[in-house]
Amino acid sequence: MERLQKIIANNGYCSRRKAEELILQGEVTVNGQVITDLGSKASFNDVITVEGHPLKEKVNEYILLYKPRGVITSTKDEKGRQTVIDLVKSQNRLYPVGRLDYDTTGLIILTNDGQLTNLLIHPKNHIPKVYIAKIDTAVDPAQIKKLTAGVIIDDKIKVKADKVKIKKLDKRQNSSTIEITVHEGKYHQVKKMFEALGYNVVKLKREQFAFLTLKGLKSGEYRHLTTKEVKTLYSLVK
Ligand code: URA
Repeated sequence: MERLQKIIANNGYCSRRKAEELILQGEVTVNGQVITDLGSKASFNDVITVEGHPLKEKVNEYILLYKPRGVITSTKDEKGRQTVIDLVKSQNRLYPVGRLDYDTTGLIILTNDGQLTNLLIHPKNHIPKVYIAKIDTAVDPAQIKKLTAGVIIDDKIKVKADKVKIKKLDKRQNSSTIEITVHEGKYHQVKKMFEALGYNVVKLKREQFAFLTLKGLKSGEYRHLTTKEVKTLYSLVK
């Protein structure tokens, strides 16, 4: 048994505060009876309605999306740009786990499981994220090594890469491709890390999030995570 407002909010119907308002306004019934007491408890064995809609038990959904360029990692955009949520079909209110820039492509998870989201984005859980960065010059390998020692971004924050690998270095074409693994998710982190060394990232793709990869997906496509993958994600976080 749990407080009604908690059941309604956990279900994703609305926030807990909004649920309290609805209860006080007489918009919530349990087994046919209007409940206005904020201390009331119920369970999913009870028939609960909110504003006349029956509350169904929430089923968690987990989607792995290959985000294309030019899509915003948000649930809505005031400028009317396409969002990652627009790219998937779902009955649930899904949210992205972390973010990728508008021009960054690659792996992003969408879910309505707020608990797992919070755990996955918390830096203490050290979830590795692997990116492929394309730089518009032939980089100096000695400079690139500094990324694992740590560089300063935003004038004061020291951030380190867990791993860096130069995949391609083309002096004639003036370009390099670098694989970089980080476990934090600061705003524009990877671009800023290269910027700290004087390098400009012209393309960025996230190829891996924890053990998950884009295997089998093309840009704009998605798939649901398997139960085993969700369990494994939970086993990685505290
Ligand atoms: N780092 C960035 O700079 N951009 C992203 O989209 C992700 C990580």
